[in-house]
Amino acid sequence: MFKIIVCENYEEMSKKAFSVIRDIVVENPKAVLGLATGSSPVGLYQLMIEDHQKNGTSYKDVTTFNLDEYLGIAKDHPQSYYTFMHENLFKGLDIKEENIHIPSGSGDVDQQAANYESLLADNMIDVQVLGIGRNGHIGFNEPGTPFDALTHIVKLKENTRKDNARFFDSLDEVPTQAITMGSGTIMQRAKKVLMIASGEAKQDAIYNMIKGPITTDLPASILQKHDDVVVILDKAAAARL
Ligand code: GLP
Repeated sequence: MFKIIVCENYEEMSKKAFSVIRDIVVENPKAVLGLATGSSPVGLYQLMIEDHQKNGTSYKDVTTFNLDEYLGIAKDHPQSYYTFMHENLFKGLDIKEENIHIPSGSGDVDQQAANYESLLADNMIDVQVLGIGRNGHIGFNEPGTPFDALTHIVKLKENTRKDNARFFDSLDEVPTQAITMGSGTIMQRAKKVLMIASGEAKQDAIYNMIKGPITTDLPASILQKHDDVVVILDKAAAARL
């Protein structure tokens, strides 16, 4: 079930998303957070850091699970999701490194996927932050991914690589594969989903997620079957609703 909140702009969207996360962490200092990368949650992460530093909200007993990671670039590469999360969030909080979980894109990656899934099998995620790709992907579950997919290795679609090329020096440098929690993992493990999306480029994906058929052509449409999805949008992303 979707609860849709439409905001004036990115800043207001980030504030609303932050209040959802803060309430969960304040109520349960041992909360398990599912986290996402991309531009959408950066404002939310800044507010979490600001709140921690000004108001002392503590993350020392919080556990996190990230959705995904690229294959073929080192963990300390400037564009790895490991680096992204440390730069944009973790380094500003008091979270313990051992409580941070990000799938690993190196070594025997099929084994890494199985290990990540079994770690998740022992945990429920109190809230899973999600962005959405223009093609409706969640995490890196690209169109066509079965809805019961668990953590797995994925070949990235060309449009996804192009969308993410802005973070790299050139399109050639964007990895072609990633490891991602599956749509099935998200549906099974997340007690609550917090989807954030802004900008005109997301309006079709958002419309189809909410009003379209449930189809693997639009991976986020499976969220129609989840009990508790809060969708926080700016006006542009909500324009077709
Ligand atoms: C990336 C990530 C997704 C993210 C999406 C949207 O490919 N794997 O988790 O939600 O793209 O990114 P952005 O928020 O930058 O638009």
